[in-house]
Amino acid sequence: MKVLNVVGARPNFMKIAPLIREMRKHPGITPLLVHTGQHYDVKMAGQFFEDLQIPLPDVSLDVGSGTHAVQTAEVMKRMEPILVRERPDLVLVVGDVNSTMAAALTAVKLHIPIAHVEAGLRSGDRTMPEEINRIVTDAVSDYLFVTEESGTRNLMAEGVAKSKIFEVGNVMIDSLEASRRLWGPSTMLGRLGLQRGHYAVTTLHRPSNVDNVTVLKGLVQSLLEVARRLPVIFPIHPRTKKALEAMGDLGPGLYFGAPPTPANGVHCMDPIGYLDFMSLVANARLVLTDSGGIQEETTVLGVPCLTLRENTERPITVTHGTNRVIGSSPKRILEEAANALDTPIRPLPPPPLWDGHASERIVKVLREQIRLGWVA
Ligand code: UD1
Repeated sequence: MKVLNVVGARPNFMKIAPLIREMRKHPGITPLLVHTGQHYDVKMAGQFFEDLQIPLPDVSLDVGSGTHAVQTAEVMKRMEPILVRERPDLVLVVGDVNSTMAAALTAVKLHIPIAHVEAGLRSGDRTMPEEINRIVTDAVSDYLFVTEESGTRNLMAEGVAKSKIFEVGNVMIDSLEASRRLWGPSTMLGRLGLQRGHYAVTTLHRPSNVDNVTVLKGLVQSLLEVARRLPVIFPIHPRTKKALEAMGDLGPGLYFGAPPTPANGVHCMDPIGYLDFMSLVANARLVLTDSGGIQEETTVLGVPCLTLRENTERPITVTHGTNRVIGSSPKRILEEAANALDTPIRPLPPPPLWDGHASERIVKVLREQIRLGWVA
């Protein structure tokens, strides 16, 4: 079985790494890796290949940045001849970025079966580009691998046959568990002069938070308030950096680069690699984020997480984890941050099947298809 795996943007890399590793253990499966190049900076892509020991891509499409239509179209245009040439038995896509949807659309038009890993998640918010990517990708996929029970419910409500849905757990947590021994000894805290449990981490990149000046200003002011109690570490996504630069002077307390001592303030820095970031999050007292994946990672690491969005497509991180979805109003952020900092951390068991073995379950399903003679 020739499986053509697709990655494009930062949150894809930690999902594909354990899958490729698992596929390579089975002689009946030949994995190929295509990198669309949606993310192309070393800090957004190359560092993750290294940290996660992902083999170099067999094909790079180098699509780069663009509007949604341009980026989607470029992936489709450049992916089509690769699929025609390679004729894989299966195209495997992960997550919900533009590259995920574009690769799935290209494959379905060539009648190539598709597996979607992290299927069924729904925020219910169609203004989020990822929500459209999720709906379209799931609609054309043949194997829907879900991370949590809400995924199954959402897919069945959309009319997907139960036989196509597989609850397998979370491949992102496979990466987290497989690399614990690597990020455990990271020197990140020492380099930043931080003490375990005495700082917060924040990330922001959703268009709804960073493309609107008023919202972004309110968020930065809230972070500066939180930083009166403990240092806030802020690795900045390129989209957010551009928006902050356009806003001009943001006042004292927010500075680029780490200070020599862990003085309180918002310490902005370039995006950091997977191992350093995991170490930073695992040892933090609090995380404030609008990322999807970080809601899952903090749940497993037992670190309180405030999600600065109006909704989440990952409700299990609220019902079984440490996540609170609080929106982006400064008043609410300050109340919730104070509450989180004043409440002792309670360790919780991870959600069902978030045990580091999701990739094994996925590859087992694929091998069963070979046994059944599904592929020639
Ligand atoms: C994309 C995903 C989002 C994911 C996020 C993680 C979509 C619709 N969005 O959003 O779901 O959570 O990645 O980061 O697919 N840029 C660089 N260097 C890079 C990549 C991007 O400077 O390596 C800059 C470019 O100016 C680009 C902007 O960042 O225009 C946004 O990149 P893009 O891939 O369009 O979307 P993200 O906001 O990164």
